[in-house]
Amino acid sequence: MSYFIGIDSSTTATKALLMDDEGAVVAIGRSEYDFETPRPLWSEQSPHLWWDATVIAIREALEQGGIDGAAVAGIGLTGQMHGLVLLDDQGEVLRPSILWNDQRTQAECDEIRERVGSQELLTITGNDALTGFTAPKILWVRNNEPDVTDRVAHVLLPKDYVRFRLTDTYAVDRAGGSGTILFDLASRDWSTEVARILDIPMEWLPPTFEGPDVTGVVTEEASALTGLRPGTPVVAGGGDQAANGVGVGAVVPGVVAMSVGTSGVVFAAADRPVVEPAGRLHAFCHAVPGMWHLMGVMLSAAGSYRWFKDTFAPGITYDELNNAAGTVPAGAEGLVFLPYLTGERTPHPDPLARGAFVGLTVRHRLGHMARAVMEGVAFGLRDSVELMAAEMELGEVRVSGGGASSDLWLRIIADVIGLPVRVVGTAESAAHGAAMLAAVGVGAFDSVGEACEAAVDVGEITEPGQDAAVYDEVYRVYRELYPALREAFHRLSYLDT
Ligand code: XUL
Repeated sequence: MSYFIGIDSSTTATKALLMDDEGAVVAIGRSEYDFETPRPLWSEQSPHLWWDATVIAIREALEQGGIDGAAVAGIGLTGQMHGLVLLDDQGEVLRPSILWNDQRTQAECDEIRERVGSQELLTITGNDALTGFTAPKILWVRNNEPDVTDRVAHVLLPKDYVRFRLTDTYAVDRAGGSGTILFDLASRDWSTEVARILDIPMEWLPPTFEGPDVTGVVTEEASALTGLRPGTPVVAGGGDQAANGVGVGAVVPGVVAMSVGTSGVVFAAADRPVVEPAGRLHAFCHAVPGMWHLMGVMLSAAGSYRWFKDTFAPGITYDELNNAAGTVPAGAEGLVFLPYLTGERTPHPDPLARGAFVGLTVRHRLGHMARAVMEGVAFGLRDSVELMAAEMELGEVRVSGGGASSDLWLRIIADVIGLPVRVVGTAESAAHGAAMLAAVGVGAFDSVGEACEAAVDVGEITEPGQDAAVYDEVYRVYRELYPALREAFHRLSYLDT
């Protein structure tokens, strides 16, 4: 039997998932780290953390699985998208990575819209310039750190820094590459046009590959550290959302992968480069060769619930908090939560948006507030679902992430979006998807679809229930609250320290 490893370098941990050649998960190694917020709106992390954690996680997975590294036939990479990694011509890291959830680049987003033209940008890349994406970060460094800029030789994404350390090659997968907004979406490669207009040298940008393509092999040095065999093939993989799409089987047009983790993501696979006409959804390449996807990202989904519990109910368990929320009727007796705790991306690309409880009365207790948080996150997910449904036919919704472990939250989501949902995948669907891409890349499966057939376990379906009508009513109020509060949010942001 041969094995595959999917490595997911996320914002808080690197996971190494060991999968057998039938697609079953054998072991998961894990090593955690933090990210820094040295200033308001900033979010940074040292690339060295990802590599150190990768070494630990691989060793742990092999040990847990009782597998010799030589039995691993392929590695797939995934990780947080959009993060900017800058290396000099010796491959040395030039500054901490600026992460996907960093919000400092509003001025550079305006600069990109102006230089490329908003419509032209949308036509070529399928996207608007948003603070989280990579290109505005490159411009920010150029505008603020000329000494760093002078020494840049390579631009990579987080997962591709791990690839560099594993294989000594510079490469990027096309799903991740399209998240830089330096991509020509339809032709699935760098847009020389956008790079030229923004004065980004093409030499900085690595060659691009489809998800299952082999991009290099494990070096002697990486082998000595990890226990993997030198020469083990490493495939391109995909950004975490595309790899998650593979891990839950969203590889057929219209099948939706919904992830309710720290951020909340609605992802629909497509067989053509579908673009939301106003650029309110992200349009990126899928990790499946020749496929694309539409995506809406809310920045604080299960992250909102964690914040709420840590702040207001630190002494009780999640189950106790969920039970309290479960005793409250749908609509939380007129209490609405806006989940913009770390600004927002979809459908309001606004780094200064803030969270809010609207409609508090003396009747409201902890359970009402907890339920309102769950409902508010579900309303945010519905915003993306509605934008997507206007562009393409949506099929089954497959939910993963920490939020999927609450039956109550699943029911709320099904009721709010008005579509059946089912829990799918392992706790680490992105790493699983990356391992599946590796297995396809070395020929253990003929196609990504075949790997999904073998590897993806689907759970029971939760149908929308009778509360859907109440939620339709509350959602209409929710929709009106951001426009009504936007001005206040912006004025309050000046008080941030
Ligand atoms: C996707 C995105 C997030 C990060 C989280 O556009 O920004 O999902 O990839 O890791």
